[in-house]
Amino acid sequence: MTTSRIATVAIAPQFLERSSPRAFVPEPLTTTQVEQVVEAARWAPSASNLQPWHFAYALRGDAHWAAFSTIPNEFNRRWCLNAGALIVVLSDTSAGMHAFDSGCAWGFMALQAHAMGLASHAMAGIEAEAARQVLRLPAHMQVQALVAVGRRGDAATLPEDLASRETPTPRKPLHEILSAGPVGHLSKTTA
Ligand SMILES: Cc1cc2nc3c(=O)[nH]c(=O)nc-3n(C[C@H](O)[C@H](O)[C@H](O)COP(=O)(O)O)c2cc1C
Repeated sequence: MTTSRIATVAIAPQFLERSSPRAFVPEPLTTTQVEQVVEAARWAPSASNLQPWHFAYALRGDAHWAAFSTIPNEFNRRWCLNAGALIVVLSDTSAGMHAFDSGCAWGFMALQAHAMGLASHAMAGIEAEAARQVLRLPAHMQVQALVAVGRRGDAATLPEDLASRETPTPRKPLHEILSAGPVGHLSKTTA
């Protein structure tokens, strides 16, 4: 793992600057801000341009907030409820490439949030049944992730164990994830 957030070869700065904090300033986003991040997701490429994604949101403190607060699991609830908005990324499982396409849409969303001076943090750690109930999810729709968006806060506002994890994340080296030609040498991804 490379520990510093430095690119091996030159890339646009947004990719290094974006990160997923857990500390957020507890103030609501505006509807317009949510529309802006989802507008960016809207322009993601998708297989056959099916755009098999959907986004459901609650703004901090609005009529949907209490219900959406039951979606994160116990660990994520400890920090994500300070965010300005919670956005659920959904995909339509009847489209073959739904997971790949909605993952790309989330990436666009995260970079747009960063460009707006906001932070975002995706979560797979959710209460799946709570999500289905709160969202009244049709059977063909799947929750891909819950995303917290807001203004980055001070790490000191977090519980101690989470504050100590508020550091830049490393990456595997480029040569480990890039192969010229065949990939027969690859082993399973482990933690
Ligand atoms: C699909 C997905 C699910 C994730 N789930 C969680 C989660 O449940 N809880 C959490 O604290 N972070 C979660 N993360 C954040 C990752 O741990 C984080 O993106 C990774 O460590 C890289 O750090 P960075 O985003 O700051 O570059 C998730 C990220 C993604 C993309």
